[in-house]
Amino acid sequence: MSNAKITGYGYYVPEKVYDNAYMEQIVETNDEWITQRTGIKERRIAKDNEYTSDMATEAARMALEDAHMAAEALDLIIVATITADYHTPSCACVVQKNIGAAHAAAFDINAACSGFVTALAIAKQFIENGTYQKILIIGADTLSKITDYKDRGTCILFGDAAGAAVLEASAEPGVMAVDIGANGADGMKLTSLDLKADAEETEKRVGKDASKIFMAGAEVMKFAVKIMAEAASKVVAEAGLTMDDIALIVPHQANTRIIYGASKRMGISDDKVFVNIQKYGNTSGASIPVALYEAVKSGRAKPGDKIVLVGFGGGLTWGAAVLQI
Ligand code: UT7
Repeated sequence: MSNAKITGYGYYVPEKVYDNAYMEQIVETNDEWITQRTGIKERRIAKDNEYTSDMATEAARMALEDAHMAAEALDLIIVATITADYHTPSCACVVQKNIGAAHAAAFDINAACSGFVTALAIAKQFIENGTYQKILIIGADTLSKITDYKDRGTCILFGDAAGAAVLEASAEPGVMAVDIGANGADGMKLTSLDLKADAEETEKRVGKDASKIFMAGAEVMKFAVKIMAEAASKVVAEAGLTMDDIALIVPHQANTRIIYGASKRMGISDDKVFVNIQKYGNTSGASIPVALYEAVKSGRAKPGDKIVLVGFGGGLTWGAAVLQI
């Protein structure tokens, strides 16, 4: 049986920056509050005519180049997003067209900020069971298009980005273990509504933009710290390892308090945790693959290192994976 190994990494962030000084101009907040409560300094924001598929395409091209692979060689494209350009065609089909991956199947998945790890779990199965040999997975979101810039409890958090990885069948260890989960019972704690507007949800949004993200932030934060620590510990044990074997944790970049709260519970020291939230904020599906790209390309994660990816998000969902780089 082959292993699924990442052989190429890519990312894309838009040029436009909303820094904390800009956020101070649009809502009642300040740099000190945002920095202390979240760790965020800046977010990247897509242009009005720039969409998730555009960012995903850029990240995909970079990952393919990094893997020295032609798009025609791909068997499958999975895009993890909650902000696809259209209901249909999927973002993955738009990317397939843009990059010319004529032989690839393509579909989107919705697991919010846990989406990239969920895509990794799917890709691992397809490669290990021999169905496919070459898979492109992308996490991409333009949260700015569904963010309420009058709600200071959410707008200071979110940014736009895309991250991508090419996975190939390999004799070397790659994705060693994956664990994903969901708690739909608490799903309405973090929402972005669409076709259905039920009375209870409409009631919660009085005075707010009902078409944008709405979140019970403190409750989501409590859930996140606990579930990230549990999922990471579980997946490390499933890989037959202990936390001492792990060189780096690459967590979903939601809030430094969540990240360090969870890593403390895992028994991991701060220097083994990759953080880039100060530059991009929370970019949902893109958060983990962009951080993974930077961790690998900066040398924080070196060839042969065993690392953990771990995230949580809307659904509510979570996911963790152990990779050998
Ligand atoms: O990818 C998953 C997506 N979700 C998340 O990652 C969210 C997880 N949650 C969080 O990151 C945090 O809950 C927040 C950063 C959103 C908020 O931090 P908190 O420590 O949970 O604050 P809070 O909501 O309990 O609010 C504390 C105070 C409140 O004022 P009062 O009622 O104590 O007077 C808020 O109104 O802070 C106030 N506040 C702000 N003040 C200045 C809320 N947002 C802001 C703001 N600037 N931007």
